[in-house]
Amino acid sequence: MAGTKYEILDPETGWLDPSIYTDQEIYRREMTHIFGRAWLLIGHDSLIPNPGDFFHTYMGEDPVILSRGSDGSVNVLLNMCRHRGARLVRADDGNCNSFVCSYHAWTYGLDGELEYVPGEQEVYYGELDRSKLGLKRARVATYAGLVFATWAEDAPSLEDYLGDARWYLDMEFNRSGKGTYAVGPHKWIQPINWKTAVDNCSDWYHVPVSHASAANAMFRVLGEPRFTHDRLFQMKGRAAFVNGHQVQYFKMPEDSLAGQSKSIPTATAEDDTAEAVERLGEFRAKSVVLGTHSLFPNTVLGFRLAIPRGPLKTEFWHFALASNADTPEQQREVLRVHTARNGVTGHFEADDVDNWRQVSESGLSGTYRELGQRVNLGIGHTHTDDVFPGALSDRFVSENNHRHFYRRWEEFMNADSWADIPLDPQKATYEGTAGMNE
Ligand code: FES
Ligand code: FE
Repeated sequence: MAGTKYEILDPETGWLDPSIYTDQEIYRREMTHIFGRAWLLIGHDSLIPNPGDFFHTYMGEDPVILSRGSDGSVNVLLNMCRHRGARLVRADDGNCNSFVCSYHAWTYGLDGELEYVPGEQEVYYGELDRSKLGLKRARVATYAGLVFATWAEDAPSLEDYLGDARWYLDMEFNRSGKGTYAVGPHKWIQPINWKTAVDNCSDWYHVPVSHASAANAMFRVLGEPRFTHDRLFQMKGRAAFVNGHQVQYFKMPEDSLAGQSKSIPTATAEDDTAEAVERLGEFRAKSVVLGTHSLFPNTVLGFRLAIPRGPLKTEFWHFALASNADTPEQQREVLRVHTARNGVTGHFEADDVDNWRQVSESGLSGTYRELGQRVNLGIGHTHTDDVFPGALSDRFVSENNHRHFYRRWEEFMNADSWADIPLDPQKATYEGTAGMNE
């Protein structure tokens, strides 16, 4: 809506307008102003290892084909025929030499070039300029094997988009140079707004309550005390909002991470500490763990996507990410833990979706819209630090990141172009950033 300015969060009080979860006009604008501009995580290198491989995925509501060209290049193409908009690819994944439209057989190469049109001379009279009718291509870049794409020509590089978030992400995704591989996705649809799953990535306040049953069953098996509020409030770590992305990290006793698995911080693994120290430095390799996190806009907890399907509908795609540095037994453990906790039958996520549905539907109530939600926990209790990048909460439990996430949402929704969207100045320096390619 031209001229509309979205101010949905009061930074002084934490008041939040719940209509952002249910309003159709807001949703339509999110598709252009957020999902049409941001770098979006859409897949993983390991899903398309060979020339001709393709994987069908989404950028917001846009269906896209992630394909490996015959020269090994990675392409991201809008899966809509330039003739009348029919889908080229109907399968989830596969291998092929070209994409043939099932309506009238216009045929495109793995790089999206329009290679063949039936009757090009006979019925188009040789007047069609095929060079201008290739599939729409997105910009594509990878970080540690994760594939990102954006439609925005004026977007910053992926490296700048992630910025100092990489200081935290590298602890999980770049601990080893041996790489990762993705298994999945595990898909299901929930009647929630996508943003509720994203802001929840920094919400530890709910854990002893919503997850009491699952958490305490887990801690009983581990021989540890119940997960109470007292235990939660003693946790060492912070919520950090860095360059648009949410991170919750844990500060561990010195050297306690030496010899730990990259994939499962609590599992004993082949000792990769020497390599991790070389890549991350002593401090991050041995004493800090990346906790729950999200990348703006819709990547949640590692490699899980909250794909919007309407104001009150979200399709989840969860991938398990295993490290090639781990043994086959440890990799199996990663998959087992992933399916036990997440997904429609996961012990933890089943608790969450009920909350997210209630929060999302609060926007349907005219009475509640007058009252508004409150994301005011820890308001005014934040700081910056010489070591940890980003805006940090003073305590581990805070809604610092919720507020920053919705402020970031406003920045995207109110911007005319990327020139209006601020990026944090980066203070961490990276020499030839490991695993970064565009
Ligand atoms: Fe694809 Fe006609 S819609 S060839
Ligand atoms: Fe939860």
